[in-house]
Amino acid sequence: MPGRFITFEGIDGAGKSSHIGALAAWLRARGHPVVVTREPGGTALAERLREIVLHTPMDPLSEALLVFAARRDHLVNLIEPALARGDTVLCDRFTDATFAYQGGGRGFDNALLGHLEHWVQQGRQPDLTLWFDLAPATAAARRGAVRSPDRFEAQDEAFFERVRAGYASRCAAAPARFVRLDAEAAREAVWQQVQVAAEARAWW
Ligand code: TYD
Repeated sequence: MPGRFITFEGIDGAGKSSHIGALAAWLRARGHPVVVTREPGGTALAERLREIVLHTPMDPLSEALLVFAARRDHLVNLIEPALARGDTVLCDRFTDATFAYQGGGRGFDNALLGHLEHWVQQGRQPDLTLWFDLAPATAAARRGAVRSPDRFEAQDEAFFERVRAGYASRCAAAPARFVRLDAEAAREAVWQQVQVAAEARAWW
């Protein structure tokens, strides 16, 4: 049986990273092989592209092309083989982040992003997307301690409002795939929501 592809999304500071590790442990305890990965990144080439995207000023089209180039390499060399083996793939961000950050945040054309999505993914979509949603002001307070913010973390609250709106519209367009989590809640309460969402899928 092919594996399940689960993605984790939300604005910077939403707190999703710790829950990825927790869900991986939860699944492994039930005997499921799990691959944990991230975007941009996940392969040697995609990690090199990540460094460039996060730290080099560039125009929005270059940014979109680079995240999709990284995604293509990641899909072909890591995600698709893992799913074919039957592994569960947990991915920290995927294409919804492109629609949210490059589309919503940067104002880049969603129709063009849709074409790139189609070419790069050939129909592949996550089976489940956990969207850690919270107010940008709360996320900014949580990020406060980050010493050297990357090009996205350095953006203002209005940028993250647009990113959040980008996620909301992706969620509205694919309600069967998305689960919106209230990430304002305390960490343990958010973890409960993650477990409920995973258990509700009847895959395990
Ligand atoms: P993030 O996932 O928050 O990693 P870390 O926890 O190490 O900071 O950082 C990735 C950044 O890349 C994040 O700010 C969002 C951005 N991003 C895009 O702009 N477009 C994309 O398609 C993806 C996958 C990420």
